[in-house]
Amino acid sequence: MAAEIIDGKAIAQTVLAKARAAASAFTPRAGRPPGLAVVLVGEDPASQVYVRNKSREAEAAGFRSEQHNLPVTTTEAELLALVARLNADPGIDGILVQLPLPRTIDTDRVLMAVDPAKDVDGFHPVNVGLLGSGATARALVPCTPAGSLILIESVLGPSLAGKQAVVVGRSNIVGKPIAQLLLQRDATVTIAHSKTADLAAVCRRADVLVAAVGRPEMIRGDWIRPGAVVVDVGINRIPAPERGEGRTRLVGDVATREAAEIARAITPVPGGVGPMTIALLMANTVTAAHLREG
Ligand code: GUN
Repeated sequence: MAAEIIDGKAIAQTVLAKARAAASAFTPRAGRPPGLAVVLVGEDPASQVYVRNKSREAEAAGFRSEQHNLPVTTTEAELLALVARLNADPGIDGILVQLPLPRTIDTDRVLMAVDPAKDVDGFHPVNVGLLGSGATARALVPCTPAGSLILIESVLGPSLAGKQAVVVGRSNIVGKPIAQLLLQRDATVTIAHSKTADLAAVCRRADVLVAAVGRPEMIRGDWIRPGAVVVDVGINRIPAPERGEGRTRLVGDVATREAAEIARAITPVPGGVGPMTIALLMANTVTAAHLREG
């Protein structure tokens, strides 16, 4: 394999070290640690793992960490009441409502109820607008896109001037915000998606390719431009009968082994973007704490 394998775990550690140092400076000044509340509704096993990891990392970083596990039968009104309580709690700087929510709950209404100053996911329209208008210093930026950008920077440096960036996927959580971040770094950005004609040809133009479609190994080696930097945001669990009856394994949206023959650098799955998401959540919580305390 020719490509550099971008070590998301190691880069996440440097982000976490900075967040911990910032938390240590914040705590004596504010007379309290930064506080993060993570809310999970229902029992989706993948979400349970993510939420547990987020709470555990917050504790390790010295934060006040709260995890609220609500039953799948929780009503929208009950969830909104919890969000209101967390908004009003002066010791909580960050509120994260894990998605997806059960279909009985209006996700937009819940995300809009979170105080934008505590919106460490960056999903509130105020933060979406700040990001879109380029006011990133004041915005809370979604964690996965912010982490993906740091991985790209680790290879290419801060400026993407003259580079073609292709984002595959147009979700509010990843596709749209990473496109905004790449644009701010002066990349020429294309957002492709499931209805794009000749997706392979579009991908082949990419100096920077971000895959966030949620389809296991959809992006093949011959879709990669030689020398491209490939960031694979996908986390897909697929059957792995070779490991035994009923076993599974995690793969990304990119056929990593094939792509690594062609690319300059590529993120692995697991161990690429995943650890960055959690690290950026800690960084966003400290940022929110500093912004709130002034
Ligand atoms: N579900 C998948 N990714 C995310 C994320 O970044 N934040 C939240 N809240 N839910 C998610």
